[in-house]
Amino acid sequence: MEAKTDVDLDQIQIEYLGRNGYLTQEIKNISRLHKDDRKGAGIIINEAKKIVLDMIVARKNQLKDSSKEWFDKTIPGIKPSVGHLHLVTQAIAEIADVFEKIGFVRVRYPEVEWDYFAFGALNFPEVHPARDDWETFFVDVNPDKKYGPMVLTPHTSSGQVREMKRVGKPPIRMVNIAKCYRRQSDISHTQMFHQFEGLVIDENISVVNLKGTLDYFARNFFGDTRKTRLRPYNFRFTEPSFEVDITCDICNGVGCRLCKAGWLELGGAGMVHPNVLKAGGIDNKKYSGFAFGWGVERAIMMKSGINIPDLRLLYSPDLRFLIQF
Ligand code: DAH
Repeated sequence: MEAKTDVDLDQIQIEYLGRNGYLTQEIKNISRLHKDDRKGAGIIINEAKKIVLDMIVARKNQLKDSSKEWFDKTIPGIKPSVGHLHLVTQAIAEIADVFEKIGFVRVRYPEVEWDYFAFGALNFPEVHPARDDWETFFVDVNPDKKYGPMVLTPHTSSGQVREMKRVGKPPIRMVNIAKCYRRQSDISHTQMFHQFEGLVIDENISVVNLKGTLDYFARNFFGDTRKTRLRPYNFRFTEPSFEVDITCDICNGVGCRLCKAGWLELGGAGMVHPNVLKAGGIDNKKYSGFAFGWGVERAIMMKSGINIPDLRLLYSPDLRFLIQF
């Protein structure tokens, strides 16, 4: 019995208990029953009358108490809108999925890291500009005797030597996807961003395996028609090193206003430097490997059909932007 006003309750009272009310009528009908049944029926109907009356009185008292707000649970509710995963989270899941299909194992290594794993073990000289605090965030604690200062990791390459130490003996096929930090903020950089790092170490690994893996990823993540190319570069921890470009989505590699010559820069890659294998305790005569490291946000921006004019938008809480993806 859900009534909103006293008038509703009066109406109910008439309907059940009034002169021609439902229960009054039932009382009248008792005379038609068999003699033996009359008493029992009378008791039941009187009980029902009492219950109805009690309910009406209780409800009237409740309505009188103005401090209690009326809540009608029969009115349909307002459905909470269902959200979805953030674009970066979706991309991370997709990247992990593409690599897991060819046997890579997803790992995660510390965001707050020692200088040794971020730089030293990766063959960086003491005076490399990335160690300058204009590029890297240093944590204000005493340096470790063995591993040096504490930093917010500026790249996922810091997971390379950690993975070699964890696995011990190749084969290694890792994809390390994690947050990284650098002191840069503009339309294509945020101070916190994500990278994914691939590392493969085994016997007889060559640039051919690297190129095949990159092409496989480009097709499966960016779109069927996308291709990659390698350009010679210099990273401390790979030799030879490359910058990886991918064909522009707009012009499909022909050349347009966005990309100029048909290619967009994706990230770094190369053959793992023997000194890095050594730092990871791996026999660099027997084993070789390749590595690559790219930004997740950058990869999203290059995906076919996605048009984000400013990378910082990804970290704004503006639902008008986020709801689109
Ligand atoms: N860590 C490099 C960066 O953040 C990218 C990179 C270059 C990763 C070459 C690699 C590599 O694994 O082989 O700029």
